[in-house]
Amino acid sequence: MEKMKRTGLHGLCLAVLIVGLAVHEAKAVSVNNDGNITFADLPEGDPYSSPESFDEGSFPLPTTWDFIGNFLSSVSPGEPPYELINTVVGDFSSVDVALLTDNITTYQKNLLGFGVAFVIGVLFILIFPIVALCFCCCRCCCKNCGGKMHMDQKDNSCCRVMVYSILLLVSLVFIFAGAVTALCISGYTGSQAQTLPTRVSDNVQDLVLYLNNTLNEIDFVMTDQLAFTLDQVRDDLNGIGDLVGVPVRESLRTNVGPAIDSVIDMETNIDGTLSSMEAVDTLQATMEINRDTLDTNLTSILTTLSTLCGSCGCCTEATANLRNVQLKADYRDIDIGAGHGSFPQVLVDSSISELTDVSNRNLSEQALEGAQTFEDIPETLRNTTASDVADIIVTIDELEGTLNEFINTTTYTLQSFSGQVEPFDDTANDYLTTYAEDYDKYRAYVMYVFYGFILFIVILFLLGLLIGIFSYDRKASPTDRSSCSNCGGLFLMAGAGFVFIFGAFIMLITALTFIIGGPIDRLVCDPLVSGQLFAQTVDKYDGILEDGYYLGNLVFQDPSVPFQIGGFLDACEQNEAVYTAFLLENLFNITEFTDISSQIPNVDDQFANLTGDFSSVEILTDDTRQTLIDFRDSPADTINWTYFTDELAKVLIYDADGNVDSLSSLITALDTDAAATSSSSDATALNDISADLQTLQDDIVDVLLQDASDIASEIVTLTGYTDVIDTNVNDTIANAETAQDYIDNNVGTVVQASVVDYSARVLGYPEQFVTYATNELETTIGGCRPVYNLWNQAVNTLCIGILRSFNGLWFTLGWCIVFFMPALIFGVKLAKYFRTMDTSDGYSDNDDFEMQGQQHYGNKVAPTTGYAAGEKPNYQNYHR
Ligand SMILES: *[C@@H]1O[C@H](CO)[C@@H](O)[C@H](O)[C@H]1NC(C)=O
Ligand SMILES: *[C@@H]1O[C@H](CO)[C@@H](O)[C@H](O)[C@H]1NC(C)=O
Ligand SMILES: *[C@@H]1O[C@H](CO)[C@@H](O)[C@H](O)[C@H]1NC(C)=O
Ligand SMILES: *[C@@H]1O[C@H](CO)[C@@H](O)[C@H](O)[C@H]1NC(C)=O
Ligand SMILES: *[C@@H]1O[C@H](CO)[C@@H](O)[C@H](O)[C@H]1NC(C)=O
Ligand SMILES: *[C@@H]1O[C@H](CO)[C@@H](O)[C@H](O)[C@H]1NC(C)=O
Ligand SMILES: *[C@@H]1O[C@H](CO)[C@@H](O)[C@H](O)[C@H]1NC(C)=O
Ligand SMILES: *[C@@H]1O[C@H](CO)[C@@H](O)[C@H](O)[C@H]1NC(C)=O
Ligand SMILES: *[C@@H]1O[C@H](CO)[C@@H](O)[C@H](O)[C@H]1NC(C)=O
Ligand SMILES: *[C@@H]1O[C@H](CO)[C@@H](O)[C@H](O)[C@H]1NC(C)=O
Repeated sequence: MEKMKRTGLHGLCLAVLIVGLAVHEAKAVSVNNDGNITFADLPEGDPYSSPESFDEGSFPLPTTWDFIGNFLSSVSPGEPPYELINTVVGDFSSVDVALLTDNITTYQKNLLGFGVAFVIGVLFILIFPIVALCFCCCRCCCKNCGGKMHMDQKDNSCCRVMVYSILLLVSLVFIFAGAVTALCISGYTGSQAQTLPTRVSDNVQDLVLYLNNTLNEIDFVMTDQLAFTLDQVRDDLNGIGDLVGVPVRESLRTNVGPAIDSVIDMETNIDGTLSSMEAVDTLQATMEINRDTLDTNLTSILTTLSTLCGSCGCCTEATANLRNVQLKADYRDIDIGAGHGSFPQVLVDSSISELTDVSNRNLSEQALEGAQTFEDIPETLRNTTASDVADIIVTIDELEGTLNEFINTTTYTLQSFSGQVEPFDDTANDYLTTYAEDYDKYRAYVMYVFYGFILFIVILFLLGLLIGIFSYDRKASPTDRSSCSNCGGLFLMAGAGFVFIFGAFIMLITALTFIIGGPIDRLVCDPLVSGQLFAQTVDKYDGILEDGYYLGNLVFQDPSVPFQIGGFLDACEQNEAVYTAFLLENLFNITEFTDISSQIPNVDDQFANLTGDFSSVEILTDDTRQTLIDFRDSPADTINWTYFTDELAKVLIYDADGNVDSLSSLITALDTDAAATSSSSDATALNDISADLQTLQDDIVDVLLQDASDIASEIVTLTGYTDVIDTNVNDTIANAETAQDYIDNNVGTVVQASVVDYSARVLGYPEQFVTYATNELETTIGGCRPVYNLWNQAVNTLCIGILRSFNGLWFTLGWCIVFFMPALIFGVKLAKYFRTMDTSDGYSDNDDFEMQGQQHYGNKVAPTTGYAAGEKPNYQNYHR
């Protein structure tokens, strides 16, 4: 059970494997008997190594890229000045100051926003240090701006601390998020830099691979499949015998075959006639001998008997009549003498000799020679068209040569191009690797230091906030605050101090990077990614040229050709064939190129010349005809058998009593006489004679009679042949001649009709190939997805990998500096609530004056420093 299960499993695996192999096995080119070629599938090609999509980084990077994009769109809402680009591309010499100033309105919408933002930045850079300086002076020298270490106790201070803390915390969170994002971007930039050499190299390799794959595909179609096709053409041309000759011969056979057969059949007649004639001759020879014997012995016996009867007188029964036995039929040669014989020996001899001669010529062999010329029609066609076929093959070879040369030059150029790419790849790779390995780390260090510093400020604020909050005692008077709380305040003040000191510097970097990266992103990368850059310029009909497509004119010298970058990028995204995607039919028109009838114009005439020469086809050779005539003219049919057959019909012997063809009456009479006689010697003599006669009867007379009967029927057979010799021979010859005429008159037409089909079949191969090759070229060969991938990688690497990374710098810095402002304000405000004050008053400015005083004096808080009193008027002034 277990074993069965396992073998079952193995079987299943095997089946899956076989099915898998069958699925994977590429279909090979083949041709069926109708001359339909099934072409093979294109080779798989080497796989590409660069990824189909670009790695934009993980959260929060894509969001950041969108933020940057949206920010730039709102800063610069206008479209790039496509018209200006078109003018410049159209005519480079038209570029001058006037052109730029004239078009100022067209690009102010793009640049105004950048200008304004930059000016704001510059103003910040200029004003912020001044503000910082003023604030500092105000605090340190004048003890104003919250610099005085004096604070009034207020009821709502707890609430304020809470609000300020929350606001500060929120600002810090935003700054922190900005700094962390910046570090993420830095990491992303680092990884981009690390992988860039590989990616560039992969892409270049893919391009080489793409060329190679395309070349292999072209090679496969134009070399393998074309060679197969043209081999098929050559095979069929060399197979003209089978493809044209055999059908021609078979269509003639219905008419010609019977004639040939009847010639061959004549041999049966000849042989039959001869053997009958010989049989007759042989029989007659025997009969002649037997008849002589009979004549001699009968005469001798009868003489003896006559003598005996005369002397003894004992012949009472054997009367003279009975003893008077005579021979009647004479089977001997007619020429033996007048009145003797009946057999036409001379004619029979000469017939036999002539028939033997005719028979020895072996009519069937001669007839088969003729038949063979008919059977050889295919070979004759092949032999007699050999030179014309060779001419056509030369034409086909020339065509193949032309095609191969063309393919070779094309592939050779492309191959040498891929050779040129390698050194570039190496250089680029070296350079990028050097940067990635040796220099990028410094960029990373700078980033760490920079954002580390920002985080450090954030931490100062945060520490100050946390320490301040945790050690905050709402009951404690400002002068009594713990040193912990004071410390928190100091941290906050330190953070604020750093912001004051470095704010302008950070803004400087922000502004500079912004004014470089922003416009490039907005004016170059955005339209590049969206495709509008091409759609509005080089791809646009009458965008640059007055009337037509710029690239069509540039590449194909034909402005009506809609050759567009966007067009082929879209096509390549769909992996369309390079020929279709790049509109290469305008470079070389495959239809014209593969138009077989234009490539080999006289091939039809050449096929029309394939007529063949069938003069050697002679189904009735002269020898055969002569043999037949000799047979007809042999004397066999001229023999008049009447004499002989009449003789055969006669009785052989008879006696005077009228007994015929038998000696029995005489023998009976002699036996009776012998019994009656008294003399024993006489009786013995009579018995001897009787016995001799009996022997004669048995051995000669009966045999002769039998032979006569046999020879008569043999003569019937013979005349059965000879009676129709003339008619048969004349008919056979006539039939053969008719058939020969039929061949001579029709073979040309039949061959012609067959050659029409044949040339359609032979020329059908190149046509099938052209259909196949054109289809492959237009739909499959050089599927250009790698080109799209390359473009996609390049644009994304430049615009996201490099430019957005760079733009991330000003974006995060600007972000941080914006949120540093509230942090600064609330930090300074909070510090006031955390630090230990030198003096403290009652209630704050917002409260009622009376209440303030009451609170102040009710709750201890005596002035501890000398100048507290001097401050009071100030305070009141402030309230006025
Ligand atoms: C051979 O091709 C012709 C046309 O190209 C088509 O009509 C015919 O059906 C095909 N025959 C076979 C057996 O595929
Ligand atoms: C190109 O293809 C051929 C045939 O597949 C292969 O032998 C050759 O190594 C390939 N060349 C490159 C550069 O891939
Ligand atoms: C006649 O030729 C045929 C074929 O070559 C052969 O088989 C046959 O024996 C020949 N007959 C005589 C009588 O030579
Ligand atoms: C055809 O040509 C070949 C070679 O020349 C020769 O052997 C053969 O007998 C020829 N056949 C005919 C039918 O002429
Ligand atoms: C292809 O062309 C190149 C140079 O033109 C030549 O070196 C090479 O032998 C040619 N190859 C074939 C197969 O014709
Ligand atoms: C290519 O040639 C064919 C036939 O000559 C023609 O019909 C077609 O318009 C041509 N295509 C181009 C793009 O020239
Ligand atoms: C056809 O045959 C004739 C006579 O042999 C010759 O003159 C003519 O050039 C041939 N035509 C072609 C197309 O070969
Ligand atoms: C044959 O000979 C007989 C007897 O002489 C004669 O009567 C007869 O006409 C002859 N037949 C032919 C066909 O000559
Ligand atoms: C015919 O006569 C000869 C000589 O007398 C004898 O030898 C022979 O046997 C006889 N033949 C017959 C058939 O009687
Ligand atoms: C047979 O043909 C020969 C020669 O043409 C002619 O003399 C003869 O009369 C013909 N015989 C018959 C029976 O047609």
